[in-house]
Amino acid sequence: MKIAIITGASSGLGKAFAEKIAKTGGVDELWVIARRVERLNTLANELKIAVRPLALDLGNTKSIEEIERLLNEEKPDVRYLVNAAGFGKFGNYNDLTREESRGILDINVRALMDVTLAVLPYMSRGSRLFEIASSSAFQPLPGFNIYAATKAFVLSYTRSLRWELRGRGIHVTAVCPGWIKTEFMKVAVDTRNGILVKNFWAALQPSFVAGCAMLGNKLGFAVVTCGPHTFIHRLAAKILPSWLIMGIWRLIR
Ligand SMILES: NC(=O)c1ccc[n+]([C@@H]2O[C@H](COP(=O)([O-])OP(=O)(O)OC[C@H]3O[C@@H](n4cnc5c(N)ncnc54)[C@H](OP(=O)(O)O)[C@@H]3O)[C@@H](O)[C@H]2O)c1
Repeated sequence: MKIAIITGASSGLGKAFAEKIAKTGGVDELWVIARRVERLNTLANELKIAVRPLALDLGNTKSIEEIERLLNEEKPDVRYLVNAAGFGKFGNYNDLTREESRGILDINVRALMDVTLAVLPYMSRGSRLFEIASSSAFQPLPGFNIYAATKAFVLSYTRSLRWELRGRGIHVTAVCPGWIKTEFMKVAVDTRNGILVKNFWAALQPSFVAGCAMLGNKLGFAVVTCGPHTFIHRLAAKILPSWLIMGIWRLIR
């Protein structure tokens, strides 16, 4: 059985990937993962393909064991893995609780790595792996510090993984978009100092970002930014010193 596994599929970018892969992915079944099972059930009813909703909290390592158990039982050929579950919180180091800071790290880094390592044995030549990073990965971001640092991890991890997986013929892409119109901001502003970031300039539609990422992966891109403004941002972050980029961010955020 050919399947796609998509985390964070109850909303935003993960849901948009599920919709695109259901239409064009050539798979028999989608395994969609998130905590809000009612959202996953609605998605399953909407899509014209078999969907297996998996109500799992990726903050709990038992959820990874459950994914491994299912994979071991079904032994599917995983043609797509999209690691889109993730979140951020606006605020300086002392505006977030320790639990909030730890949570961001746990979902964006540990869970992404755990799901990747659990699924990779079931991927084969021609399979496609999307790790959702962010343009936040390109430089440190005061006021969005932990989030940006986790996305720098995702970008670095994915770039190396791409090389490590070359022999197995798995196509790996780090997806690094700027702002996207999803529920992300609603979660991010919900802190003691959520007003620190107010300007979500040039936010894109999630379906556009998912389509752009899938095209970029097909074309063999290691990193996709999904928009000329984010591409320029990426170049600027390579050329300009970090203090200058961080200063610009403080002005425009
Ligand atoms: N929106 C942006 O501006 C933007 C820009 C660049 C990159 N990104 C990245 O894109 C990815 C998708 O975010 P989005 O914009 O689509 O935000 P979103 O609409 O808030 O979706 C986040 C998804 O992550 C899932 N999730 C969060 N915590 C989870 C947990 N503990 N266990 C399982 N699933 C969990 C949520 O599902 P449940 O709540 O149902 O569990 C939801 O499906 C994230 O990695 C984000 O960092 C977003």
